Amino acid sequence: MNIFDQIDTKNIPQHIAIIMDGNGRWANKQGHDRLFGHNNGVESVRETIKAGNKINLKYLTLYAFSTENWNRPKSEVDGLMELLVRTIANEIEELHENNVKINTIGNIKGLPISCEKELNQACIKTKNNSGLNLILALNYSSRWELTDVVKKIAYKVESGSIKVPQINEELIISELNTSDIPDPELLIRTSGEHRISNFLLWQIAYSELYFTDILWPEFKEKDLYEAIINYQSRERRFGKVLNK
Ligand code: IPE
Ligand code: IPE
Ligand code: MG
Repeated sequence: MNIFDQIDTKNIPQHIAIIMDGNGRWANKQGHDRLFGHNNGVESVRETIKAGNKINLKYLTLYAFSTENWNRPKSEVDGLMELLVRTIANEIEELHENNVKINTIGNIKGLPISCEKELNQACIKTKNNSGLNLILALNYSSRWELTDVVKKIAYKVESGSIKVPQINEELIISELNTSDIPDPELLIRTSGEHRISNFLLWQIAYSELYFTDILWPEFKEKDLYEAIINYQSRERRFGKVLNK
């Protein structure tokens, strides 16, 4: 049976988040520089979006640049920013035709102005689309996000608009970058690393984690389906005891 047919269409996660890792190692293995890996990673993004559309996925969050990634060599960072602008410019028409709605999480104002502009245009152009919600995590880290939440709530207390006992999970969630996005049921990380690297720490409290050794530029449609099939074999208990 082909892998697509093995998916239980009644149990598709609403939201899949992906730590797209391994571009540099993939490129180096073939004697190329790291940017070659990033460039080739774009094809895997296209494949993943195509697969997401085929299964009617509602939300796909892609970790594309972390706040810690600024610590890489300037040439790599500049190359990544340039790739981001170029990719959005090249892909936006097709994404729009496919009813994809683009959104971002992260400190977008801290990106080069050309990236910020391209992203804002893409979000505005696709804002009324009703298909896949594509969320790009850029200049994002969970600790940055949570620090910002603490500040926003502290200001509300300071101004008297709320009192400390009113601070609860709902309020915290409403101040997250992901306030209008359900938590991911499935988090995928490629490249064989078994860590979270400051991604969605609050939101993945009960996500199923899936690690694959595949390097991101080699991740294809079938690999997303494989992750989903694996997810569908899990028993999600949320701290409860399931009746057998
Ligand atoms: C992921 O691939 C892309 C970004 C973090 C921007 P890497 O660039 O981290 O590749 P590896 O992990 O060094 O192989
Ligand atoms: C995580 O990958 C960030 C992104 C995929 C954007 P990294 O390659 O930066 O993470 P570490 O350094 O291996 O933890
Ligand atoms: Mg990496």
